[in-house]
Amino acid sequence: MILRNRVEVLHGVNLDQLGRRDPAHYGSLTLPELQMRIGDWAGELGLSVSFFQTNSESELVERLHRGREVADGLLINAGAWTHYAWSLHDALEIAGVPAVEVHLSDIHAREEWRRVSVIEDVCIGTVAGKGPDGYREALVLLADRLRQNEEESA
Ligand code: DQA
Repeated sequence: MILRNRVEVLHGVNLDQLGRRDPAHYGSLTLPELQMRIGDWAGELGLSVSFFQTNSESELVERLHRGREVADGLLINAGAWTHYAWSLHDALEIAGVPAVEVHLSDIHAREEWRRVSVIEDVCIGTVAGKGPDGYREALVLLADRLRQNEEESA
């Protein structure tokens, strides 16, 4: 059992438009449908999950500033901000809780500009190119880290 088990799933710019975006890259689930699946997986893993989506970079930065208050761990799909928003890099550092970066598509096999992630080094792992199932993998990574942290501080 994980005691500090609150996970917040953060979705950045344009992810509210899932279902209308290129299905070849992003599949056909809408964001509410994707969140339902994530909620089920989180429940199976004993995690308590919350969701936050915004198209405003400043709102995401402010949410990250409250990271520790709202969550023990984060999953973040920052959308296109991933590739250039150093503000998110710094805000993830400030959040001070373990975060896993997730992408539906394989950012390393697409255009050159998508291959760079400015948040990679402040995340404990990255899962990309596995579609919705990638969120399950990311939740498992995060659950393992939260369990490990608890064992170490016991
Ligand atoms: C994305 C990949 C980004 O390059 C893109 O800008 C997105 C979604 C993904 O989930 O594959 O908006 O993060």
